[in-house]
Amino acid sequence: VRELNHETITDAVVQSFAGTPDARLKEILTSLVTHLHDFAREVRLTEAEWSAGIDFLTRVGHMCNDKRQEFILLSDTLGLSMLVTAMNNPTAKGSTEATVFGPFHVAGAPHYKHGEDVSNGAVGTPCEVSGRVLALDGTPIPDATIEVWQADDDGLYDVQRPDLEQAQARGVLRSGSRGEFHFKSIVPSSYPIPHDGPVGDMLAATNRHPWRPAHLHFMISAPGYKTLVTHVFRSGDRYLESDAVFGVRSSLVADWNVGDDGICRLNYDFVLNSANAE
Ligand SMILES: [Fe+2]
Repeated sequence: VRELNHETITDAVVQSFAGTPDARLKEILTSLVTHLHDFAREVRLTEAEWSAGIDFLTRVGHMCNDKRQEFILLSDTLGLSMLVTAMNNPTAKGSTEATVFGPFHVAGAPHYKHGEDVSNGAVGTPCEVSGRVLALDGTPIPDATIEVWQADDDGLYDVQRPDLEQAQARGVLRSGSRGEFHFKSIVPSSYPIPHDGPVGDMLAATNRHPWRPAHLHFMISAPGYKTLVTHVFRSGDRYLESDAVFGVRSSLVADWNVGDDGICRLNYDFVLNSANAE
């Protein structure tokens, strides 16, 4: 029988993975256990604290359903989502920066033609959004799939309104022959991430606020190009410096300007990396 103590147990667990057929899984589990044990030793984790941690993660799991993804919120608020995004989306000079995916994307959103109103009845100040989808060399990318989703004036996404039957303030468009797109929507508002669950408890316990600066979500894909997941943030927002999920990049901050005709407009071009770019 091996005599294991709080120092030797790490090697024993790492050794237990020696027969893992999947080399990448072996690498990840080995590193995870090594860091997890080092963490517990470093903070001298007590049994009560271990138990509180298990309870916290259990509550995070119980909070999840098909509309609420508390684990993504946890990852977002711990900066892990942005870290993984930044690491896996090195920005080629001139290409649009990526940011967090977030928990409010819905697959199968309604399709819209250019000029149509994706807000679909969501409450907010009307605006028009236009831009182009371009390759790094400035070549227009036609027929790119542009998914857009956003919060309404109350800071809520449609999926956060249980009584709502149709999709609101989300839609799918295709870029035209010159890479162009335009649609109507509403001006996005800053909003608190859902903070009535365990992630909210963590924010409160650490004197952090739950707010995200106003933004429009985009996911843009086209054959031959790396899919871009990003936001366009609204300039002047009070939370740009303290986004609860660490997603702001200055290149993604833009103006919604009111024109002489009284219409509020955003114009923003997206530049995609080629699929084989590092
Ligand atoms: Fe969002």
